[in-house]
Amino acid sequence: MKTLKTRFTDLTGVLFPIVQEGMGPFRTARLAAAVSSAGGLGTVSIPGMTSAPDVGARDMRAQIDEVMTLTSAVFAVNVPVGTTESGEMMPVSAAYVKAVLDARDSDPAIARQLRVLTTSAGFPGMFRDRIKESGIVHMHKVGSTRQALKAEAAGVDVVIASGYEMGGHTHASPVHTFVLIPNVTAKVRVPVLLSGGARDGRTLAAALAMGAEGVAMGTRFIATHENEWHPTYRQKIVDAREGDDTLFPSVYGPGRGLKNQGVEKLRELIDSGEMSAQALNEWKDKALIRAQSEGDIEDGLIAAGQVASAIDSIVHVAEFVPRMAEEACEILQALGQRVRG
Ligand SMILES: Cc1cc2nc3c(=O)[nH]c(=O)nc-3n(C[C@H](O)[C@H](O)[C@H](O)COP(=O)(O)O)c2cc1C
Repeated sequence: MKTLKTRFTDLTGVLFPIVQEGMGPFRTARLAAAVSSAGGLGTVSIPGMTSAPDVGARDMRAQIDEVMTLTSAVFAVNVPVGTTESGEMMPVSAAYVKAVLDARDSDPAIARQLRVLTTSAGFPGMFRDRIKESGIVHMHKVGSTRQALKAEAAGVDVVIASGYEMGGHTHASPVHTFVLIPNVTAKVRVPVLLSGGARDGRTLAAALAMGAEGVAMGTRFIATHENEWHPTYRQKIVDAREGDDTLFPSVYGPGRGLKNQGVEKLRELIDSGEMSAQALNEWKDKALIRAQSEGDIEDGLIAAGQVASAIDSIVHVAEFVPRMAEEACEILQALGQRVRG
């Protein structure tokens, strides 16, 4: 079997430089275990953006424990770090980061497998020392070169550079993957993962050509048999065409998803001015969870990236992940043969 060795695989010990990135706010425990077992890096996601901190921490720990029963491979947890109006870390975000670090402290087996913490949205400044001391690999997702340099200066081990076409929360400034990734890889020294629009071996090969050390995908992994979300959501990704995506005001900033009645309803609610910011956030959180857990793709919110337009089948993770790496190897070898002189 052909495989790829990069600074990312060296750092984390995974076989393939292919990450299933966090996809909250419902659950991705089974998907994470499947991706990690297949040789990639699977990621547990936050169970809710507006949960009470103790409930959120308990749910997060339950997902970590579930992954531990399903795989003996290395896995990650993602925590988007929301901030309050006064600029502090949201209590639920702090509870999630603490749950990850506490889980590692509580059990050496968890510490061996839960090797990566991925943060996004804001930076978990108040946990910086504890993250360093714990020895966990800290990846942080950014949408600009400025943010990438800031994350590197703050001591992160890996930068995930994600282009504007990504699914879920995207960025305030619209820099797309093809421009962002070479910008970032030219400026930072830590390993960089490409995120936003990756889907197959061709995009993995392109990521490496742009100086990245691997890819972090969301949308592609929704349409897998191992993803425990409602089948209607997975099918909606398969059915999506170019132009079916839109932006909507999500909890931490702009979010990308598929056009539907739910997005229209959200716009009406915002325009009416009747709901407080907190009530609106709870509405969005519930609408995202309803789509993922119950398949409410009419009135729920369907987070997804532009790459949904390229996904035309529901795949098995155990076949897909190694095949993607192999396809990238074949492309890189074939391209090498074109070089003359
Ligand atoms: C349904 C969905 C939910 C997401 N939820 C999160 C999340 O909880 N935290 C986070 O950092 N990113 C989240 N993202 C972004 C992904 O982690 C990833 O960066 C993105 O999907 C990459 O772009 P792609 O969709 O083109 O692969 C989400 C994406 C999707 C599609």
